[in-house]
Amino acid sequence: EVASYLHRTSFHFQPEKNWMNDPNGPMYYKGYYHFFYQYNPNAPVWGDIVWGHAVSTDLIHWLYLDIALVPDQWYDIQGVWSGSITMREDGVPIILYTGSSHASEQTQNIAYPEDPSDPLLRKWVKDPENPILRHPDGIDIRDFRDPTTAWKDVDGHWLMTVGAKRHNMGVALLYKSKDLKHWELQENFLHGVANTGMWECIDFYPVSVLGYRGLDSYSAAPSVKYVLKASLDDDRHDYYALGSYNVKSKSFHADDPSRDTGIGLRYDYGKFYASKSFYDAAQQRRILWGWANESDSEAADYAKGWSSVQAIPRTIRYDSKTMRNLIQEPVEELKELRGPRVSQKSVRLAPGSVVEVHGAIGGQLDIEVVIEYPNVTKLSQNGALIDDGDHFDCSQGGAAHRGTFGPFGLLVLADESLNERTAVFFYISYSKEGKWRTRLCSDQTKSSMLPDVDTTIYGSFVEVLPSEDFLSLRVLVDRSIVESFGQGGRMTITSRVYPTMATDTASHLYLFNNATTAITVRSIDVWQMRSVAMHAI
Ligand code: FRU
Repeated sequence: EVASYLHRTSFHFQPEKNWMNDPNGPMYYKGYYHFFYQYNPNAPVWGDIVWGHAVSTDLIHWLYLDIALVPDQWYDIQGVWSGSITMREDGVPIILYTGSSHASEQTQNIAYPEDPSDPLLRKWVKDPENPILRHPDGIDIRDFRDPTTAWKDVDGHWLMTVGAKRHNMGVALLYKSKDLKHWELQENFLHGVANTGMWECIDFYPVSVLGYRGLDSYSAAPSVKYVLKASLDDDRHDYYALGSYNVKSKSFHADDPSRDTGIGLRYDYGKFYASKSFYDAAQQRRILWGWANESDSEAADYAKGWSSVQAIPRTIRYDSKTMRNLIQEPVEELKELRGPRVSQKSVRLAPGSVVEVHGAIGGQLDIEVVIEYPNVTKLSQNGALIDDGDHFDCSQGGAAHRGTFGPFGLLVLADESLNERTAVFFYISYSKEGKWRTRLCSDQTKSSMLPDVDTTIYGSFVEVLPSEDFLSLRVLVDRSIVESFGQGGRMTITSRVYPTMATDTASHLYLFNNATTAITVRSIDVWQMRSVAMHAI
């Protein structure tokens, strides 16, 4: 039996014990970042859901507060489910959340801080007139949940959306209100996509196409694009689309219909679900939280006494280079935890080689790698060396596959004999359309000697522009979580792993190249990460 502490993370948010799922109502208020989360205080499995609550001044060091909302009314007695915070015009934050009623009906409810002058907002009071919304006609009582942060419409009304399903079409129901309490269903949906099933935890927010600053107001300015995200209950992934928001018809239109919500882009190609963003007025940025559940068994969760972590909060902005996706990066504050560093420059990786990054020891690392983009055009003239991209996806052979231009990358959480290791790698191939395309993959198949661990290989394409002669990768390693950010955060993969030998000082880091072509690593910088102590106040 593996001790519960072995896989407990050291700088990711997780409760002291038991089950956690969705991030809820993140906000910045009177000097503190607040974080609420779906929490089972009684067991390390889903059930008896309340809103856990924690505060931080830097999004990294957290203090646990008392539970903010518990099921104690007919309309939420089966659980205080996901929801969001909206800042009222008088500056007071209010919670809109879904209750699961005694009859399993999903209801929308409102709660207020008992004392808005308390920066910690320790006590919350439910409105006596709850529920403020019941499911509309044509929507099942179990398919109506997770209200978004409300936004101010151009005509001064509040708008918000609630996720639902109609004839297997995932939809964002649109509601309008004057006072955040009395809501009127609008005839049109904000958006909907056929055959995507129930849309959970919708998020809808503006991004600036001009700069790095986050946005909070839902304007019609041409420099503003909109992101619509839905968490698809059917396949458990968070999908988003970039598009425009028509303030007149109050509807969202994806820029590229083939990349619409539920069809195209994902925030993360590993484990990252039920995410929620908020506008951080203190730093004028938009921050994204996402839930990374376990890949071990329920029995293992009972043995550990806990289940799930939150991914490191990410700053998100529009990718003004590709104009097709968002950029996600760990919040800047994470660098406060960086300790001793090792660096190497110009490392040549011969075909089939594994090279240790000496001194990069431990299960808590922040890694930055820059790799020369190989000279693919020259070799392609030879014809025979071209890999047919259609015959490789990350899961075919994983890191053990041998192609012309991949796989190459990192082995993290690896023991010295390489019995255990998680491979994060690139793979470049030639597609039928006559283009070189790059994949980023995360291979968990050798990550643990434990049985009953889901070791699915994750991955997808990452865009590399013609002007970019390099591939970049940042990887956060924290004992049982590996978060990879490819090409400056254009594509991300989060995985959960359970090393039994490659732990603490027995955990090593390697560069590897399984391609038949030599690869040059321009630079690698690795920081050992300090732990964060989280406790209750
Ligand atoms: C998403 C979700 C939400 C729901 C909550 C219940 O993971 O299913 O739709 O509100 O979790 O815990």
